[in-house]
Amino acid sequence: MPAPSILFVCLGNICRSPLAEGIYRHLTEAASEKPVIASAGIGGWHVGNPPDRRSIKVAAAKGIDLAHQRARQVRRDDFVDFDLVVAMDNSNLARLETMMPAEATARLHLFADLAFGTRQDVPDPYYGDLEDFEAVYSMLFSGCSAVVAKFE
Ligand code: 4NP
Repeated sequence: MPAPSILFVCLGNICRSPLAEGIYRHLTEAASEKPVIASAGIGGWHVGNPPDRRSIKVAAAKGIDLAHQRARQVRRDDFVDFDLVVAMDNSNLARLETMMPAEATARLHLFADLAFGTRQDVPDPYYGDLEDFEAVYSMLFSGCSAVVAKFE
């Protein structure tokens, strides 16, 4: 089975989902078949912007470069183009459920549920400090590792 394509979704697509995208790409870099990996936001406020400088910084400290990534909004085609659409928190998941078109073929998941079998949120670090971003990085790294292992 080829590795599923995966779209990570958060609210703004500048803090959590770009980190998840970068970490997941890093973890699958050595795979013979590289999955399609992307991220998007529920909202459009930051479209075209690079990730938050704090996400770039915590990832760079681990050798993962996010600086080239640009924010975009979730679109209808995403629900057909990707195998998995993965929400960072329960609020993102609820919003995605309302956006899902009739022709959707993607499977919609909460990140923690897919990774750990729990219903917890990846907490929004936007109004937090660098420590909050480091905690999000750790949760995303262990979660992405679990998801990659699931599809190996
Ligand atoms: P993210 O964090 O959803 O992890 O990208 C946020 C970024 C921006 C905003 C909210 C959350 N905002 O309100 O602009």
